[in-house]
Amino acid sequence: MARKGADVVSKWWGLLALGALAVGVIAVVVAMNWPAETRSNRLRRPEDAQLLVLGQKVYAAQCAACHGPRLEGQPNWRERGADGRLPAPPHDASGHTWHHPDEELFRITKHGVAKAANLKNYESAMPAYEDRLSDEEIVAVLSWIKSTWPPEIRARVDRINAEASR
Ligand code: HEC
Repeated sequence: MARKGADVVSKWWGLLALGALAVGVIAVVVAMNWPAETRSNRLRRPEDAQLLVLGQKVYAAQCAACHGPRLEGQPNWRERGADGRLPAPPHDASGHTWHHPDEELFRITKHGVAKAANLKNYESAMPAYEDRLSDEEIVAVLSWIKSTWPPEIRARVDRINAEASR
């Protein structure tokens, strides 16, 4: 009789331990995913269809002339031209736009490369858009650019954003 009682108790503890383990696993999973979704570094909203309509318009009007109508960039974009300036890089997955966290892309677009990178005398052909585009329009165009990337690249961007927010 006493033995049976002990069995029941140990079964109980077993279940309790299992429950605690499950809660622990859920907590870890949530902790891993939650920050990437909520931290301020997630400025872009590629799932916001209305924003993407605006973003595509802004891209065509303001960015396509240099970065290309299909986001392909200018030819030989890795080599500086005779004026010492870099050509416009692609914004598709073959470029390095997706290597930068949201905050950095926002600063480059709003303030230009020199100011964004804190390089005082850096000469760049990339304009600063602070007087031409609102913050929301900048977020819109960057969101649209992100929306064109394949899912695996977007997932990597989310990890880069999470890292940058630490
Ligand atoms: C007059 C040409 C021109 C226009 C128009 C232009 N860009 Fe650029 N952009 C450049 C050049 C050139 C670079 C490379 C700058 C450098 O590194 O010196 C660049 C770089 C960038 C980068 C950094 C990319 C990276 O991988 O480091 C971003 C982001 C960017 N542009 C966004 C935009 C957006 C958004 C628009 C439209 C709102 C835009 N650009 C319009 C020429 C242009």
